[in-house]
Amino acid sequence: MCGIFGYIGEKNAVDIIFKGLKKLEYRGYDSAGIAVVVDKELHIRRSVGKLCNLGLSLKENPISANIGIGHTRWATHGRPSKKNAHPHTDSAKTVVIVHNGIIENYVELKAELQKDGQEFKSETDTEVITHLIKKYYEDNLFCAVQKTLSRVRGSYALGIVSKDEPDKIICVRQDAPLIIGVGVGENFMASDIPALLSYTRDMIFLENGDIAEITAEKIVIKNIKGDIINREIKNIRWDTVQAEKNGYKHFMLKEIFEQPRTIEDTFRGRIYPDEGRVYIEEVKLEKEYIKNISNIYIVACGTSYHSGLVSKFLFESFAKIPTEVDIASEFRYRDVILDEKTLVVVVSQSGETADTLAALRLAKTKGCQILAVCNVVGSSISREAMHVIYTHCGPEIGVASTKAFTGQVTALYILALDLACKREILTIGELKKYLKELWEIPLKINKFLKNAKFVHDIAKVFASKRDFLYLGRHINYPVALEGALKIKEISYIHAEGYAAGEMKHGPIALIDKSMPIVAIVIKGRIYEKIISNIEEAKARGGIIIAVADQSDKEIGNKSDYVIYVPETDEFVSPLMTVIPLQLLAYYISVILSCDVDQPRNLAKSVTVE
Ligand code: G6P
Repeated sequence: MCGIFGYIGEKNAVDIIFKGLKKLEYRGYDSAGIAVVVDKELHIRRSVGKLCNLGLSLKENPISANIGIGHTRWATHGRPSKKNAHPHTDSAKTVVIVHNGIIENYVELKAELQKDGQEFKSETDTEVITHLIKKYYEDNLFCAVQKTLSRVRGSYALGIVSKDEPDKIICVRQDAPLIIGVGVGENFMASDIPALLSYTRDMIFLENGDIAEITAEKIVIKNIKGDIINREIKNIRWDTVQAEKNGYKHFMLKEIFEQPRTIEDTFRGRIYPDEGRVYIEEVKLEKEYIKNISNIYIVACGTSYHSGLVSKFLFESFAKIPTEVDIASEFRYRDVILDEKTLVVVVSQSGETADTLAALRLAKTKGCQILAVCNVVGSSISREAMHVIYTHCGPEIGVASTKAFTGQVTALYILALDLACKREILTIGELKKYLKELWEIPLKINKFLKNAKFVHDIAKVFASKRDFLYLGRHINYPVALEGALKIKEISYIHAEGYAAGEMKHGPIALIDKSMPIVAIVIKGRIYEKIISNIEEAKARGGIIIAVADQSDKEIGNKSDYVIYVPETDEFVSPLMTVIPLQLLAYYISVILSCDVDQPRNLAKSVTVE
């Protein structure tokens, strides 16, 4: 759950690493550090807090070098502090490392090293690696790393440098992402693609067990036994502008406004509404298998879990397949009943979430077909799944997920229709209708976003509230959960998402005249039911903010505020109704001066359990 970056070449490593870390700050930001080698001496700078603090320290105490590694941290073992900040070094300051992940057996290794007389300077699990490398280091860093890795268990992406071999960085990957950026006369390593895009588009995605030795001129990848491994260089087409704020105040706002395009990019080339045809090139499930699917399990975390909940309605209604949705951290420890007729769909923006990855691996052992819906090409989940539908959303930097959610819902909607076709359930007319509804969504979202200022006005009225209730039913129930999650994440306001019909079994007791209730009231099969639910809430003094269809003439009489959205079919409506909820959370967060893109205690990619 940290970001690591390394550089070797002729340029100033410190500047390049610092810029690389800036792009990785979303992965963790409680401390940061850089280590370089100058004249066969290690120099380390570390600071607590965000990267800008490290920037200040580098300004006060500048340094330049041609090789170095850097780290931006999200604490797991050891609280955020200078002594726990990476890079970590051994007592003799010979080797220095940055680490993303967790060393599971660090307690026993630490005890062993302490018995040998080794002193520890930090509370981190990482420090054991530095001491082990030093212990095994004779004259070959690669061999010392090999021996060290045979002793450690856990997840790790490592960047390792020695002052005695200042012409190389050793990069190691095991269950945490690590990419090598291939340059000319220079090479890079980083946890994620955006950090490398300013320097190169040619990248090598290390696999578990890979140990790469990078010099300015060469990249050699070996396994733990020392055998050379060939890894393909992939050319990444994301441009750097895609990864920048593009004039918006925050990444989150930019990402909210990008959604018409990212939804379209996700369905482009996959749906043909006029012909009534769906084509998902990446999904190679046999028609016979699809006909015999007994059930679907969707497994995910956070916002991805909510998009999975939306898709349950689609798989059941379109494809008539019994569907369950589970939180990955629960799924992986249950005795889930799975077999080869179960299709397991894992949903993950980053493709690196530890619990989701573990759930995928568990399902694999049961012989299920595994399909991933993922945004990051080359990520662990996308590589380990048997089929991958990429959401073409580009990098999502804001910690609170927005465009990834709508990209996932889009991909899952198409998948459900594809399965429905192959199971011969929908008529061509129905298929055309549902495809057309999806096709029109980007235009409708654009139309709404052009007049979104009204949401800001509502945010101003309610920003001082300490509790919110979000209500929805049917396919918009998960949207209520997502709306509540957004406001919790970035505004630190307590919010509950509830199935509106369930409100009378508990949360109704919370309602009084100071409680804002955001209700999604879209025309569809349960319209009248949710109208009754908001009347129940209103009768108890609650303040109703309704998200409703533009054509709804009645809703104004039943609620205090209405956010009108263009009308959509109910099955595609979550793509529309989530937008005002994302904006409401965003504006409240800005009004409260919260850190929108990097909310406290959270991280973009949770690569630890
Ligand atoms: C973290 C992020 C969330 C995200 C969740 C799952 O909690 O802050 O925004 O929804 O992880 O991440 P994934 O990459 O698997 O979708």
